[in-house]
Amino acid sequence: MLNKLRQLLKNSPSKNWNIEDFSGIDQLHLGGVPATLELLNWLPTNANEGLDIGCGLDIGCGLGGTSRILANMRSFKMMGLDLNPQYIAAANLLNQSINPHPKCQFIVGNSLNLPFPQHMFHFVISQHACMNIEQKEALLKGLYSVLKPKGHLLIHEIMLQPNATPRDVRYPTPWANSTYESHLCHWQTFKDLALSIGFKVDRMEDNTQAALAWIHKTRGQKPKPPFTPSLALGPDAAVMSNNLLSNIDAGFLQVVSARLSKPLLVHERQR
Ligand SMILES: C[S@@+](CC[C@H](N)C(=O)[O-])C[C@H]1O[C@@H](n2cnc3c(N)ncnc32)[C@H](O)[C@@H]1O
Repeated sequence: MLNKLRQLLKNSPSKNWNIEDFSGIDQLHLGGVPATLELLNWLPTNANEGLDIGCGLDIGCGLGGTSRILANMRSFKMMGLDLNPQYIAAANLLNQSINPHPKCQFIVGNSLNLPFPQHMFHFVISQHACMNIEQKEALLKGLYSVLKPKGHLLIHEIMLQPNATPRDVRYPTPWANSTYESHLCHWQTFKDLALSIGFKVDRMEDNTQAALAWIHKTRGQKPKPPFTPSLALGPDAAVMSNNLLSNIDAGFLQVVSARLSKPLLVHERQR
């Protein structure tokens, strides 16, 4: 993927690339750019909360599209982290090809073992990046720790519908080749874990129908060349996307957006 991407960028050396040019490849989640913008709207704009000069962490950032949008729309300083070194190299390559470079840093790392001090980020965002992670409690504890008090965790994730079981889901999907790589949970389980760790759940939306409508709409359109999803997902991209659609259609998968927040710590409330 990386070499192909380098080639495509080199073939158009005089082009002034902008963020939108890469949306066919760097938005590896349902709903594309509009879904990211919607989540962005869930972050407070209140200057007192310092969010307009804030810094955010994008876990499982993939090729960095979410980070770039957030850095550009609201001047956040973004840190993107992903397990896949190829994706991080691609995220850096795409970032460097845009002028001026969006204020993003991309590093290889595991969301379960975050290399950051406590209370570092104003917010954390996770778009379709929890489905491969079995240890949801450890994940949420780590995210809670790196968030500042009053910080927010924004999630946009695929989960199991309340009556579905992991065995119902057909693979490969865009996040897993088989059930062994996939760790889908129910919203209720995720929410209970988050509450037990200390998060408050401010808002939750079931975006399953919107995601379905988006899939049908994008299927009617030609992918924007040269940066198409199959570049990132490989030759099975179409099968993965068909399975995703049929899993949602069959009522097995739910698309959940939620905003969780970390309360002010007790000793800070007393100041
Ligand atoms: C479906 S992609 C979504 C990428 C990106 N968030 C987006 O919306 O375009 C899921 C990403 O999560 C990453 N990932 C999975 N498990 C991870 C982990 N434990 N730590 C860091 N990244 C992880 C994968 O490498 C992949 O890039």
